[in-house]
Amino acid sequence: MAKNYPYIATPPPGPNARRIIALDQAYSSPSYIKEYPLVVERGEGPMIEDVDGNRFLDFMAGIAVASTGHSHPNVVAAIEAAAHKFLHICATDFYYAGFSRLCERLARLAPGPEPKRVFLTNSGTEATEGAIKLVRAHTKRQNIIAFRGGFHGRTMGAISLNSSKVRYRAGFGPLLPGVYHLPYADPYHCSVGHKPSECGDPLSCALEEADSLFHERLDPSEVAAVFMEPILGEGGYIIPPREFLQYWRDFCDEHGAVLVFDEVQSGMGRTGHMFAADMFDIAPDVTLLAKGLASGMPLGAIIAKESVMTWGRGSHGSTFGGNPVCCAAAEATLDLIEQSLMKNAARVGAKLIEGARALQQKHDIIGDVRGAGLMIGITFVRDRITKEPYHGLVPELELAAFKRGLLLLGCGRSTIRLAPPLVIDEEDAANGLRILDEALMELRVAA
Ligand SMILES: Cc1ncc(COP(=O)(O)O)c(C=O)c1O
Repeated sequence: MAKNYPYIATPPPGPNARRIIALDQAYSSPSYIKEYPLVVERGEGPMIEDVDGNRFLDFMAGIAVASTGHSHPNVVAAIEAAAHKFLHICATDFYYAGFSRLCERLARLAPGPEPKRVFLTNSGTEATEGAIKLVRAHTKRQNIIAFRGGFHGRTMGAISLNSSKVRYRAGFGPLLPGVYHLPYADPYHCSVGHKPSECGDPLSCALEEADSLFHERLDPSEVAAVFMEPILGEGGYIIPPREFLQYWRDFCDEHGAVLVFDEVQSGMGRTGHMFAADMFDIAPDVTLLAKGLASGMPLGAIIAKESVMTWGRGSHGSTFGGNPVCCAAAEATLDLIEQSLMKNAARVGAKLIEGARALQQKHDIIGDVRGAGLMIGITFVRDRITKEPYHGLVPELELAAFKRGLLLLGCGRSTIRLAPPLVIDEEDAANGLRILDEALMELRVAA
């Protein structure tokens, strides 16, 4: 594919795209969201080409997954080499070197000095599910603390922990008992709904409810685990104050609960650190990974302190988890992230945040810009003083950007996430910001 420059040949969806969409709509499950009518033909680096020859700059990376860019040659070569050897044998029951090497590497990389052990899964939700079983088996307790705005996947245990959108749970109950949702400290929008003029500080607002929960309804000694995203992903790309994470680290230490960081979205170099936990310098007991771990091949991980991963032989397994081809993709991905992409994410991410803040000066509907590396959130408001969220803007903005050759994705209730592949350079960042600016201007004119 030519230069990293977005190019619209036929207004999308073009005729080829429309044919595929019609086929899909006739046969695929109606539960799929299909954010906008992007129909992909191929990808390279940060660019996606659709089936009608349009070229898009990808600022969402297939929901923060294509960490090394689309079809990075090193990753493709690793996949090819592994595929030629064997496709499957089942790591639950047998051995192969790539699997064991990857477990060792992840165990050594995970935050904190204690020895770790690793269980490999096919997805983020399977990592969540396994972690729920692990913390119950390890602590012999049932109750779990999770957070408002949190997202951990789509299976029954994971949806029990979710509270980012009601549609993830609606109609699927009864869910897992013993899950308590508490506010997540949000430095911009008060987590308990106080008006900006009345909000004390985000930390004390978020912790008020924890205080009453543990005094009135739940004995902390009966908490098995605290499941949290160290940076909220689906819930709005919210970066909490460090003290919030420290509070829960201390809570778990004091009461013998397990602190689980779901780094499915924030891990693998996205924040400019291997894990968001490193950025805060707070080590959990368990880290969950997926998404960017294998550049788009289906692979997730539960990395737990050896002292926590105490379940017995046969108590958990997976037919496909840690597939040899996926492990090879993950090893190549880790090489690239460690060699250059983590640093690139920090460097280009800082430029992107700076550029987004310049847009904030120009567009008064941008209430807040925050980010770490290439995990950046832009929140839209109707009024900067009251911070009233600008509901309904994000889908329109996604579409306006798409028609100009930029792929965006919303999160939370009025936020756009910038989560491009970690390979983007300054020119890509400038192109993305330019299209974002044009799309915002179009929407303002239309408003
Ligand atoms: C933080 C977090 N956890 C878990 C998941 C679930 O991952 P998967 O879709 O691979 O099951 C996601 C997916 O968006 C996520 O962002």
